[in-house]
Amino acid sequence: MKWFVVVGLLLLLPALLFAEKIPTVATKDGKVAFDEARFPAKMKAGVAILNTKCESCHSLDRIFNALETGYTISGSSFKRADLKPFVIKKMRRSDINMSTQQAAELLRTLQYLVDQDSHLAAE
Ligand code: HEC
Repeated sequence: MKWFVVVGLLLLLPALLFAEKIPTVATKDGKVAFDEARFPAKMKAGVAILNTKCESCHSLDRIFNALETGYTISGSSFKRADLKPFVIKKMRRSDINMSTQQAAELLRTLQYLVDQDSHLAAE
């Protein structure tokens, strides 16, 4: 194997490993959603909220991206400690229509996603 192929594969490896950190699945209409099947039972309610309530205004990419990088596209921090204020902010939007109960489920699932990966959970 040529050296640059080896180097290329080594560079690609973290990306491949990382890509698996957020369990996603392709949907019938060609979008990407959180893969409910790969979450523990008590997270499924939160996953359903993410998949149904969080992609009407923007794609879920925005959430994948924030989870993966620890930052939102507008540059604010999206670490574990930011999740609660974030969910509260989202819940207060009049157009989301999310109950306190649903917000709690959502928060639990986002925290779970961050906790799955020490890289995501950093800070
Ligand atoms: C009613 C429309 C709407 C819905 C529903 C919605 N969002 Fe958003 N979201 C936005 C807009 C608009 C932005 C751009 C930043 C802003 O104005 O707050 C955004 C930005 C974001 C960002 C990046 C934050 C940033 O500052 O760039 C994340 C992460 C996010 N949304 C997650 C979610 C989650 C999780 C849900 C489900 C609970 C959700 N969104 C539902 C409208 C929506």
